[in-house]
Amino acid sequence: MPRKLAAGNWKMNGLRANLTELIKLEEKHADADVDILICPPATLIDRCQDTPFDIGGQDCHAAIGGAHTGDLSADMLADAGASYVLTGHSERRTDHGETDEMIAAKTQAAYDAGLIAVICIGETLAEREGGTTLDVIDTQLAGSIPDEADNENTVIAYEPVWAIGTGKVPTLDQIAEVHGHIRARLQQRFSDANEMRIIYGGSVKPSNAAEIFSVANVDGALVGGASLKAADFSPIITALENA
Ligand code: PGA
Repeated sequence: MPRKLAAGNWKMNGLRANLTELIKLEEKHADADVDILICPPATLIDRCQDTPFDIGGQDCHAAIGGAHTGDLSADMLADAGASYVLTGHSERRTDHGETDEMIAAKTQAAYDAGLIAVICIGETLAEREGGTTLDVIDTQLAGSIPDEADNENTVIAYEPVWAIGTGKVPTLDQIAEVHGHIRARLQQRFSDANEMRIIYGGSVKPSNAAEIFSVANVDGALVGGASLKAADFSPIITALENA
């Protein structure tokens, strides 16, 4: 069984004052027997170094450096103290036109910098309703995971786009189907696929975390809104520890 992962994605939220939430989390979860990852805005990565949690970036550039105003390289994130980075989040795919090819290049840059990549995939509502979810997943898996991926440098996050920030969650059967499908596809390509973590994201809350974590092949969660407050994220971490 892979070691479970509770990941918080703060997105474009968080000022220095919000770091008190991490102190509250630390009081309860400093010695958690699951991995806890916080992806704050990049401006706060350096300031999170005193926490016992893993810290991650939310995106990186594919290049190691150069004339890319406003971007951050994977090396810079690592230098600031990150050990993880999200790649291919649907908000990056939508807001910044990121393609699977770009995401594979960013993920490779993450590996080269020694970071663990959390590669995000997931279908839109139109794709779900059109019955093409598994095809979309196949295309994203094939296009965005570099050949160097293994269970130590890669986590796959299944995040249905229509579930992100909407309060809508797939049924447990739907989650089981997609996670089982992802596991099978990884097994075709990677010898250590059973040890690769596949986490679910999209409207995970204290109220639904335990049932989501009971689903086969769900090795944790990528949590947006409910990761901003310790009062919400803490019961999710506890549910994962008890799963
Ligand atoms: P949400 O976001 O938990 O607010 O739905 C999840 C994500 O986008 O990673």
